[in-house]
Amino acid sequence: MSRYEFPENFLWGVATSAYQVEGSPLADGAGPSNWHRFCRQPGRILNGDTGDLACDHYRRFREDIALMKELGLSAYRFSIAWSRVFPEGKGRLNPRGLAHYQSLVDTLLAHGIRPMATLYHWDLPAALEDAGGWANRDSAGWFADYAHTVIRALGDKIDFWATLNEPWVIMDAGYMSGVHPPGHVSPKEAPWVSHNLLRAHALGVQAFRADGRGQIGLVVNLEPKYAATSSRDDRAATERAHAYMNRQYLDPVLRGAYPEELAEIFGPHWPRFESEDLRLIQEPIDYLGINYYTRAVVKHDPRGGPLEVSAVPQRGAEHTAMGWEVYPQGLKDILRWVKARYGDIPLYITENGAAFADPPPADGRIDDRRRIAYYRSHLRALHEAIAEGVDVRGYFAWSLLDNFEWTYGYAKRFGLVQVDPASQQRRPKASAGFYAEVAQSNGAVL
Ligand code: NOJ
Repeated sequence: MSRYEFPENFLWGVATSAYQVEGSPLADGAGPSNWHRFCRQPGRILNGDTGDLACDHYRRFREDIALMKELGLSAYRFSIAWSRVFPEGKGRLNPRGLAHYQSLVDTLLAHGIRPMATLYHWDLPAALEDAGGWANRDSAGWFADYAHTVIRALGDKIDFWATLNEPWVIMDAGYMSGVHPPGHVSPKEAPWVSHNLLRAHALGVQAFRADGRGQIGLVVNLEPKYAATSSRDDRAATERAHAYMNRQYLDPVLRGAYPEELAEIFGPHWPRFESEDLRLIQEPIDYLGINYYTRAVVKHDPRGGPLEVSAVPQRGAEHTAMGWEVYPQGLKDILRWVKARYGDIPLYITENGAAFADPPPADGRIDDRRRIAYYRSHLRALHEAIAEGVDVRGYFAWSLLDNFEWTYGYAKRFGLVQVDPASQQRRPKASAGFYAEVAQSNGAVL
């Protein structure tokens, strides 16, 4: 083990998202979101959990920010709930919704913590879902109006904005597997959803250029794909999986064209997009946010859905409670790949972390050593990538708190801090202590 120093002014933060931590979904005049409604459909969420209370962060954010300060963090990545600002998604503005985020941001700044605000982390106003959601071409304009309003209201206080969080998940879980709202299984809609998300992103960036200051970027989830064998079929399958998940959004934004493999995957459903749209989508961004959790080893499988791909389980490897392989080398590989393919755009690791079934507290201490080991190994991989010249400027642990993990409800715990669901008491785990040390000393013995 040796000591690794990170670059000067490196940001150390934690990340959350509105629906996952806030609770009080209809407070102060907010409208219902698609997730608020989805959680009320029987069988959708494990144990029938909802985000009604979540971590009560809507009311306890001051306490949570004080905790971040105690940990010595320099940044907080959170998201803004669209349906608090526009209860019906467009039209009537709800000033109390905006006021909430003003207070959140003011509290962060008073504690010397830099805000990174994500404009869309999956919670769409229900009224917009009823109007066709992201499959409707107008969605890009709805988003742009919302983004413009928020940026005008908060823009002088926020250094880092992100338009969308993980467009791939919005499309794949919402419109291919149907496990997220709107719960469609529709390869016909899916390419349009991706396309409208990208148009929305670009219009959001333009809105920012008009009135914001600081930087704006896009947050994508990247998961490197490795071929199970060197056969031609497996290598082609790997390229398809890679194009679908890792290049579907980055290629159009940073290189101006969708990957050719998408036409193969979607077949007759793959649209002919207007070249004007593709020009819009290339609107320059200031940084790229990368969420990294795991990798996949893939092989050709004619029964593996439209991609004709299936994942090969890695027996013997360590897995998290999500069933995701712990594979730190994948972080380094994907960072190298981003630099090689897209050039030197400033990068932030906007999410990285692990769910584990934590041991019960002993002497008041939750000794989550597997989570610490996960962070250690990934920080080492990150440091190696930086040492090779990849321009990573900050890191956000997912997550500050045990929170609402979408379809898994509260069963999967990613927090550095445990939250007792009944009392809402916060209890920092050993990993919080580890991470605080890293943040405070801008480095770690790894
Ligand atoms: C990515 C998502 O952005 C976040 O909402 C989710 O909780 C984590 N990954 C863990 O699955």
